[in-house]
Amino acid sequence: MSFVIKAGVTWMGKVDWELRKFHGEEYSTHRGSSYNSYLIQDQKTVLIDTVWLPFAQEFVHNLKQTVDLSSIDAIVLNHGEQDHSGALPELMRHIPDTPIYCTANAVKSLKGQYKQDWNFNVVKTGGKLNLGKKELTFIEMPMLHWPDTMLCYLNEDNIVFSNDAFGQHYAAAQMYNDLVDQSELYEECIKYYANILTPFSKMVTKKINDIVALNLPIDMICPSHGVIWRSNPLQIVEKYAKWAADYQENQITVIYDSMWGETRRMAEEIAAGIQMSDPQVVVKLYNSSRTDKNDIITEVFKSKAILVGSPTVNRGILSSVAGLLEEIKGLSFKNKKGAAFGTYGWSGESPKLLGKFLAEAGFSTMENSLGNLWGADEAACREFGQRFSEYIR
Ligand code: FEO
Repeated sequence: MSFVIKAGVTWMGKVDWELRKFHGEEYSTHRGSSYNSYLIQDQKTVLIDTVWLPFAQEFVHNLKQTVDLSSIDAIVLNHGEQDHSGALPELMRHIPDTPIYCTANAVKSLKGQYKQDWNFNVVKTGGKLNLGKKELTFIEMPMLHWPDTMLCYLNEDNIVFSNDAFGQHYAAAQMYNDLVDQSELYEECIKYYANILTPFSKMVTKKINDIVALNLPIDMICPSHGVIWRSNPLQIVEKYAKWAADYQENQITVIYDSMWGETRRMAEEIAAGIQMSDPQVVVKLYNSSRTDKNDIITEVFKSKAILVGSPTVNRGILSSVAGLLEEIKGLSFKNKKGAAFGTYGWSGESPKLLGKFLAEAGFSTMENSLGNLWGADEAACREFGQRFSEYIR
């Protein structure tokens, strides 16, 4: 599959409708994904990024239908992660001397992964590649989201090839932002930001400001996953600016796991207490062993506060809660509050342990957690919910 997005610019990627997990088993992709590669044909012919390894042969085969491989003058690799570089070895088998333009860290990444000493040309921010009538300008984007990441800008057509930034894991038959279901698109964008970009929010803000200061006209943003932004393309940049500024909605998320239902009942009664105290706030409950973890993290991202509960098991907490908290800690959420609760179980330590986890993850935690209950105590849980509601105001 390929399609022309502007005269001389062709999408050459792969829509992966089947994908259900990405980054190994780390990220759920309920709606599949795509690996977007772009071919620019000016006086020079340049390929931007490739696709994931399982589709390498299909990619090169399709590329051959569009262009004589020997006429490709250069390859630009915006990022070395395998979903974009995976087809490079297969392609380089056909055109082994073709120069590859990428950052210094991408050279390390590609050499480390593929053990090949290709014709690398290191680029830095402000570096340019003349294509004839048009020109590509490179802008390094370290840690957005890997150390080697960059984007490039094509003048004349005013296209930003943004790689992972502004992307979504979203398979679509019509790969433009104005031709897909808008609520699905929004869900995939915010999930992607919450789960992948949250820890780098300060850098997102800085990089957006840097790019805005360049005052470049932008007609299209072409990410490496999901749809192309051609209708009001800056809407996704505005969303990123908002999400990067310690985003939160008027929402509290209650996360728990339960052995016999008592911790679940605690969660429900605490939620009722919150709702009694503040009928406006959105309260959502998730059992961490029964809910996709990336979806829960998206809800945490949207929340101003979270509550976490587990019974005490073998002097610890249930593993689904522990695993999720480890993930939450790594994402370095800012400006959020939290509290812990749990049933006594074996020996009653769980609320204290959960509170410690939350504090280590950067949450401001309410001093007194709710624990040492052998079963859900409706009055105590509701009072706790009300107290928490007041604490976060
Ligand atoms: Fe889409 Fe960081 O790879």
